Amino acid sequence: METPFEEWKFIEELAANQHDFIRTPVSADLCGTAIFGILLDYPVIYHYDMASFNGNMSGIPLNVYTAAAEFVKNAHDKQPLSAKLFSFSVPKALDGYNDSISPCALKSYIILNGEESAEEARGIFQEVLALNPGSLRALRALESTSNLLVSRWHFPMLNDERRNSLYRDAIDAALKSGVQSVLDIGTGTGFLSYLVWRSNPAGVYACEMNTTMYKIASEVLKKNNADVQLIPKKSTDLLIPDDLPERVDLVICEIFDAGLLGEGALETLSHAWENLINPSSNSRVIPSSADVFLALVESPDIAQSSCGKKTCLLKEEPYDSEVLSSLPRGFRILSTPTVILHLNFCDPEELVQIVKNGKKSLVDIELKVSGVPHAAVIWFDLHLNEHLTITTHPSDSGCWEQAIFPLGSIDPVLQGNVLTLAIDVCDYISVELASEPNPRLTPFPSPHLKVINDDLYLGQIQLELKQLLGDLNQGDIKILDLHDFPVAAIVLKECGLKSPCTVYTVETLCENVYGEDVKVISSEQAKQERANIVFHDPISKDGTLNPYVLSLLQQFPKETKFQPSHVEAWGYLFESQRLEEMSRLVSDERTLGYAVAEFLNRFSVSYHVDLHESTLPKLRCSDDFYICDIFPCLDYSGVDAITVTTSGSAVGIMVFFRLCYSSGLLCTKDVGHHWKHMCCLFPEPTKVVQGTQVGVLYKVSQGEIYLAIQ
Ligand SMILES: C[S@@+](CC[C@H](N)C(=O)[O-])C[C@H]1O[C@@H](n2cnc3c(N)ncnc32)[C@H](O)[C@@H]1O
Repeated sequence: METPFEEWKFIEELAANQHDFIRTPVSADLCGTAIFGILLDYPVIYHYDMASFNGNMSGIPLNVYTAAAEFVKNAHDKQPLSAKLFSFSVPKALDGYNDSISPCALKSYIILNGEESAEEARGIFQEVLALNPGSLRALRALESTSNLLVSRWHFPMLNDERRNSLYRDAIDAALKSGVQSVLDIGTGTGFLSYLVWRSNPAGVYACEMNTTMYKIASEVLKKNNADVQLIPKKSTDLLIPDDLPERVDLVICEIFDAGLLGEGALETLSHAWENLINPSSNSRVIPSSADVFLALVESPDIAQSSCGKKTCLLKEEPYDSEVLSSLPRGFRILSTPTVILHLNFCDPEELVQIVKNGKKSLVDIELKVSGVPHAAVIWFDLHLNEHLTITTHPSDSGCWEQAIFPLGSIDPVLQGNVLTLAIDVCDYISVELASEPNPRLTPFPSPHLKVINDDLYLGQIQLELKQLLGDLNQGDIKILDLHDFPVAAIVLKECGLKSPCTVYTVETLCENVYGEDVKVISSEQAKQERANIVFHDPISKDGTLNPYVLSLLQQFPKETKFQPSHVEAWGYLFESQRLEEMSRLVSDERTLGYAVAEFLNRFSVSYHVDLHESTLPKLRCSDDFYICDIFPCLDYSGVDAITVTTSGSAVGIMVFFRLCYSSGLLCTKDVGHHWKHMCCLFPEPTKVVQGTQVGVLYKVSQGEIYLAIQ
């Protein structure tokens, strides 16, 4: 159906991609109110600026709805408490589509105007949760806003005591050499400014461009009695004398991602030298320089999401990042690590040159061991001064991941052979093979490649298809594929099973970019199509449930033949220092006495996703236990007693799923699958004793899973 709004496609795309939050620029013809209404599933707020946005609905037939929410605080309350009221309108032409969109799209709300409104939303979700503490939806909405407002990497970064101590030592050394005034660019929680202030309380300035981090830093610095002039701005917008009274002697910063320059470090430091730092010979920057290393790496896991015999990677990001040592099937370094770039952060001319003109080079890398060079990987040594260095080497990387540049190779290269790589340094570092890519390969996004290369998964679908074709050997066989790309059609083609099948996919799930073999239909049509088999994957790649697919499945007639026909959630209790460090600030000792945990941990959440379960350092405290069915039964809650097999300090429950097909069973925990894992975290590590039983409370609702210990 033709839709009256271009934005509709945009909504569908976002819905299919399972976005928790939708940030959208407000354009003149975007009907924010309509989008809001379509997605509504919960108290939602939206903002738009009337000066720049004319949300004009005149001339469009509308259905107007009013939403109210009532909550009973406890069973004795006679009078329910009401939450805020919202009213919204949906163009008549779009009404009816909302069934298929809302359950997935709304985990919470649309942000039309950035962080400010997310903070307001957080307040509302907290309010709702206080009124109705059992609401899983409110909890997840609150936690989604926390994830949005404070990036998760702040936790491992501040827990990294070695990083923190090295910065402290470098700052102390600079202050001893007579530096007077200091600017901390990108202060985050205020930690580095605090270290400066502790040694030299005069003349400490800090700037932070992220509004939430700025507010956190203000609170934490105050709590620590640190007198730091905090400026809520990006450093490149700072003005002298309005923001800073004069240029400073020392700039300190830690604005380095896995690829070193991806957070804009070159532009930031080049601007600082031109505008914010005294041009005297004693002025400096911490860190003073960096060496970037590159090595060729063989890794089945990188290969799975980046190459194939007929496929190649559709590049959407300049690089990916991973902790190499956490890859489930390991990795081999095939070449001697080579320095591909030395950057002197105290040489303004060099920085300006690179910012203006970039820096391109060709580098020959010889293989020291034969193997398949699936990727070039980079890491770096960050020299804080001439004596103190932080390394992000794969065996010793602290809180940093390594930057991965997939090369798409599938053939082994013999020891002694040389690959030429093109290195381009501009806003960030990019690395690719100097030779032309093979034009006959079909580009796929990385998550799709991961599925296509999941042999066990495709093998299972193939078995089911063969069985179906054997059972029904005449007539047009209708296959409905609810993956986000038509996996069944690919399997049919691969094994020459095409005729006499028609594969249908649902438009809100899947763009029809994979050939004419597939018919794209609406979810309404899909439900009425009476397919002979419906393939689905109710687990998202990050290990969470896929609420959109689960809610769609619920709407089919009972007699529909689904594959998998049954999906179970399983878990185990475990202790893991590493996971704790990734999800909350362990103590203020990690930040060398800077009292920040209390503030930052307000943004910690009750789950962690995207985990490599098999390589996470951990101690298992129980055997695997069955939690509940997630399909076909959708909503479930209960308490079960679990036996502790090993004493420990349990941080949470690792969750995995079993998918039951008519001819076999797949477990998401098996290495080589396209799924990663989620775990439900307890608010505090909980002591569990071998041989005793603990009560595990579970709740599954509308595609969300929540586990706690009683
Ligand atoms: C990796 S964190 C480091 C935080 C803190 N300095 C520490 O070491 O704990 C980087 C912070 O810098 C901020 N940032 C990055 N570039 C900036 C810039 N040019 N001006 C202001 N803030 C910046 C980001 O918003 C982020 O909060």
